[in-house]
Amino acid sequence: MVVVAPDVSSQSETLLPPRIPRHVAIIMDGNGRWAKARGLPRTEGHRQGTENLRQIIRACVEFGIEILTIYAFSTENWQRPPLEVRLLMNILEMVLDRELRELHDNGVQIRHIGKLDQVAPHLQRKIREACAYTRDNRRLILNVAFNYGGRDEIVHAVQEIVRSGIPADQIDEALLNQYMYTGGLPDPDLIIRTSGELRISNFLLWQAAYAEYYFTPVYWPDFDREQLLQALHEYSRRTRRFGQIDEQLTDEIGE
Ligand code: FPP
Repeated sequence: MVVVAPDVSSQSETLLPPRIPRHVAIIMDGNGRWAKARGLPRTEGHRQGTENLRQIIRACVEFGIEILTIYAFSTENWQRPPLEVRLLMNILEMVLDRELRELHDNGVQIRHIGKLDQVAPHLQRKIREACAYTRDNRRLILNVAFNYGGRDEIVHAVQEIVRSGIPADQIDEALLNQYMYTGGLPDPDLIIRTSGELRISNFLLWQAAYAEYYFTPVYWPDFDREQLLQALHEYSRRTRRFGQIDEQLTDEIGE
């Protein structure tokens, strides 16, 4: 059931595949192990991981991907040592300070998904400002999942529905969809997890219902443009049935 990325890349995979997913989501895992394997501190792994994110955002724009969702900090990541939590907070702040202009100039619209209330007020403000500043950009929507958890998102959606006083018999999948942090966006077509872990770790639980998964042993700092291209080729070879059988499928389904 789980398909692990083949460790081969052929000449043909340097070209774009015929089917490009609209929405790609990534669990950027393995920064710490990347650093450890090189005898470096974890901070260096996160620094390289951040640098790599810049390349991947650029590649997504180049490949015509419309939406990129990245798992930057989970609701469970608060349990890490305080110093590392502070570092991850600082990384987001630094990315917003240093990269916002370039992201904006490249047509990237930044959105935040998750809960802001536990985040320091000055960082909350920067996140809100970055989202507002880039809100009219259309080339790539970058969803930054920060203090995000899939179960928490579902609970939050239900709370909001109850608060709105919507009667139970009017609650359906379409309504719940609207109340998710990603409300209004199409579900992810492809979810990538780096570093060899075969879990979804509370990421996009609702939205992932029909996503294709791609697991690769490559650590996040090494998951470069070519690796992304390999993932897109693998996606392009998959048949998405959405619960149907092969004979029912037309070319349009899953496009
Ligand atoms: C996983 O590595 C990565 C994270 C917890 C998120 C860090 C992501 C970045 C530095 C990229 C850019 C970040 C932002 C905020 C835009 P890990 O520490 O879990 O690695 P390990 O499993 O090998 O220890």
